Amino acid sequence: RDYINESSKNKTAIGHFNFATAEMLRGIVEAAKEVNMPVIVGLSEGERNFFGVREARAIVSAYRDDFGIPIFLNADHTKSFERAKEAIDAGFDAIVADGSALPFAENVEMIKKIISYSRETGKNIVVEGELGFIGTSSEVLENLPPGVAVDELNMTPPYEAEKFVRETGVDMLAPSVGNVHGIIKSGNPVISIKRIEDIKLSTGGVPLVLHGASGIPDGDVAMVAKAGVVIVHFSTEIRVAFHQALISSLSENHDEISPYKYLRGGVNAVREIVKKKISLFKV
Ligand code: G3H
Ligand code: ZN
Repeated sequence: RDYINESSKNKTAIGHFNFATAEMLRGIVEAAKEVNMPVIVGLSEGERNFFGVREARAIVSAYRDDFGIPIFLNADHTKSFERAKEAIDAGFDAIVADGSALPFAENVEMIKKIISYSRETGKNIVVEGELGFIGTSSEVLENLPPGVAVDELNMTPPYEAEKFVRETGVDMLAPSVGNVHGIIKSGNPVISIKRIEDIKLSTGGVPLVLHGASGIPDGDVAMVAKAGVVIVHFSTEIRVAFHQALISSLSENHDEISPYKYLRGGVNAVREIVKKKISLFKV
């Protein structure tokens, strides 16, 4: 919460990067260390299934100690109370309680249950709520997923955001403001800075989170931080970089069987993209 408040004061944001393997995590952490900035690393439910929640907690804590930089672990896009409980019990620092596919009242109800549990256990982790559909997959997509808002008429309405924040008591809100998960081949929609500012105003300044930052031009990403976004999520661009690096290293050196050699390219590719993105938030 201190880092969020600090970012908010400085009108900048903290980068949030998803990982699914130890190599991707290493690339993110090396980047944060190099530029000496705080970072949030996140695991969606699928990524958690692959990595393990207790395992993620252990390795991120070890990096935090060894690298001496603030690294926070987020349970990204958590869609049920059971998965939230699992992450809270494992000691995650923050959670995205994602009830965006649910009707408003059920979304509110799930978040309230998660916040109560988090407080009861004494962990009191940072809880983010989501309002508005922005797609579900961090992939390179042919078309915009149906239902994702591209005009202000369909983006998260400021009055609804206010009601949602008041009723849930969330620490942060992730709205739909023209953002979408994934890279759209023909180009991602344009982010509405005006809608970000209006939601910020209507909610009395609740910290906002921008999901789906892959495919958004760097200049626009820098601008959202000025408008009131305190955390920006990237995944697809990291996945693409990691995937391409692995293809090259395996095809260039077919006979290399030492994992720490052929995986190093993947670590470096993630490190470079994360460095570039995180530097957008330098004050
Ligand atoms: O929670 C994850 C992010 O919102 C990822 O979005 O794949 O478009 O970068 P992205
Ligand atoms: Zn997201």
